[in-house]
Amino acid sequence: MTLGEVLAGASGYLAERGIESPRLDAEHLVARALGLSRIELYTQHDRPLDASERAAARELVSRRGRREPLAYVLGDWGFRRLTLATDARALVPRPETEVVVDRCLALIEPLRAPRVVDVGTGTGAIALAIAHERPDAIVTATDLSSDALALAAENARALGLAVTFVESDLLAAVEGSFDLVVSNPPYVRRGELDELEPEVRDWEPRKALVDDGQTARLAAEARAHLDGDLVLEVHADHAGEIASMLAELGYEPPAISRDLAGRERVVEARWRPTPTG
Ligand SMILES: C[S@@+](CC[C@H](N)C(=O)[O-])C[C@H]1O[C@@H](n2cnc3c(N)ncnc32)[C@H](O)[C@@H]1O
Repeated sequence: MTLGEVLAGASGYLAERGIESPRLDAEHLVARALGLSRIELYTQHDRPLDASERAAARELVSRRGRREPLAYVLGDWGFRRLTLATDARALVPRPETEVVVDRCLALIEPLRAPRVVDVGTGTGAIALAIAHERPDAIVTATDLSSDALALAAENARALGLAVTFVESDLLAAVEGSFDLVVSNPPYVRRGELDELEPEVRDWEPRKALVDDGQTARLAAEARAHLDGDLVLEVHADHAGEIASMLAELGYEPPAISRDLAGRERVVEARWRPTPTG
């Protein structure tokens, strides 16, 4: 069998299994199995594959056929300018979260050595992107999941980026004051779980998905740690409601940003502690 035939077979198989972009996924998986770039799949299209190459491709394609997320099967995923290791210990970083980082960078732009904390860091995506794009930032990241933190720490080591990781329920185990508190907290309501794609519902950690009131709790608790901005990624249907909640908690007028698809995704607001003495 040639590489081209294997690719066509993989693409057809993934289409039958309900994968949204079967050809693209097949290209990523076959290229990874063979140690090739996607361009090389085409320059070597007519090359016959040996048995071990076919077995390697089959293994990755059948994992994807079971609806395991592409990022878990590949074991890494791009986020802004970084490539992060990804596996079932943490949520796959999403493109809309890149917009959260844009807002964070804009807000800390005028500050020197800004103190930043990323709450619920998962793979470390937000914390590591900020550390990478603002090398003077002093970045802390928390998560309730020790598995996620282990993965985030592996990513930090591999990328040579300095982030302090703390196992914590939101900010409970964190001390000090920050110029920026950022979070992409879980925001799927329990009743919505069944509507999710199998890749999300059956493979990504429940702790990373289900809204157990973390957003409201963080909005209230962050005030004790903030002399600056709170930036939250939110469910596209809840941005207005969360902006109102922040205003009621005494944050300065909240602003909402949209993601690249035009959905209201990021809510930000400023907290200034009352001067003492
Ligand atoms: C939606 S995921 C976001 C992961 C990552 N920040 C990203 O944007 O890709 C939410 C993360 O919050 C963590 N989490 C959930 N509840 C938490 C809590 N009470 N305290 C700290 N982290 C929590 C989950 O383990 C998960 O890693």
